Amino acid sequence: MSEKIADDEWEWYIGKIFARLIEKVHNGKLETVVEIAPGYRYKIAYALKEFNFKGTIYVVDTNIDVLDYIKEKYKEFLPQSNIICVNKTFENCFEDIPNEFDLLLSNHSIDDMIIAEYMEKTYTNNLGNDNFKNILSNAWLNLGKDKNMISEITNHVYSSFKKFFNEKKIETIIMSQYKSNLYFKDKFTEMDEITENCFNKIKQLIQMDNENINKILKFYPFGEDDERYNGRYLLDNTQNAKNWIVGKTEI
Ligand SMILES: C[S@@+](CC[C@H](N)C(=O)[O-])C[C@H]1O[C@@H](n2cnc3c(N)ncnc32)[C@H](O)[C@@H]1O
Repeated sequence: MSEKIADDEWEWYIGKIFARLIEKVHNGKLETVVEIAPGYRYKIAYALKEFNFKGTIYVVDTNIDVLDYIKEKYKEFLPQSNIICVNKTFENCFEDIPNEFDLLLSNHSIDDMIIAEYMEKTYTNNLGNDNFKNILSNAWLNLGKDKNMISEITNHVYSSFKKFFNEKKIETIIMSQYKSNLYFKDKFTEMDEITENCFNKIKQLIQMDNENINKILKFYPFGEDDERYNGRYLLDNTQNAKNWIVGKTEI
């Protein structure tokens, strides 16, 4: 399936989780939001729709076609919002983003930031193509064999977040990095192992109450009898604090 086609139910579901975290943890004004690396997805739009968002959202992505898509899609969900697209890498976007803002949101972007840096132009040139998943899987298998490159790239991604958190005053940060479907297939673990290490380092920059977040995440958007909850697939993965960064930066 093309990278451009989203599973709408999944977009809605992850959007529900973001909305719940925004409601229970952020609790403040919702005027200026920054989102990093949405891809051809709209989970954050689903989340902000629950608050009838009328503020400004800065969306940062290196791919211009993604941003064209986002501009249109987010306008459908958030007709009264102001959508500002920033076509830069995260590490180069700082001057385009306000120094103070209410919410930083990003869903499942750390893996893409790592592999995009490794693949350089091959990533953005192929994103949206039908064979993108194969190209991506091969790149992860190759990166998985190169310990020096793994540490160089993950340190670089971590440092970009550290610098961003030092320079910006952000009321609440909410980022996810749950296990991907690829992780559960064919014992393909390179992507999630490398990503998890990087995500956990970034997480240490944030004051986070994991126990409270787990309480907040214990809810059932699909209904309590959904088999994914019985198998604990969702409660151990998308709805588990270990796969989220939620809070403020360490002072
Ligand atoms: C597949 S999407 C991420 C997942 C998506 N947010 C979701 O909810 O499923 C990855 C996006 O990250 C963008 N990207 C990769 N590295 C980036 C970077 N360093 N800065 C900004 N965007 C980046 C890519 O262009 C792509 O659109």
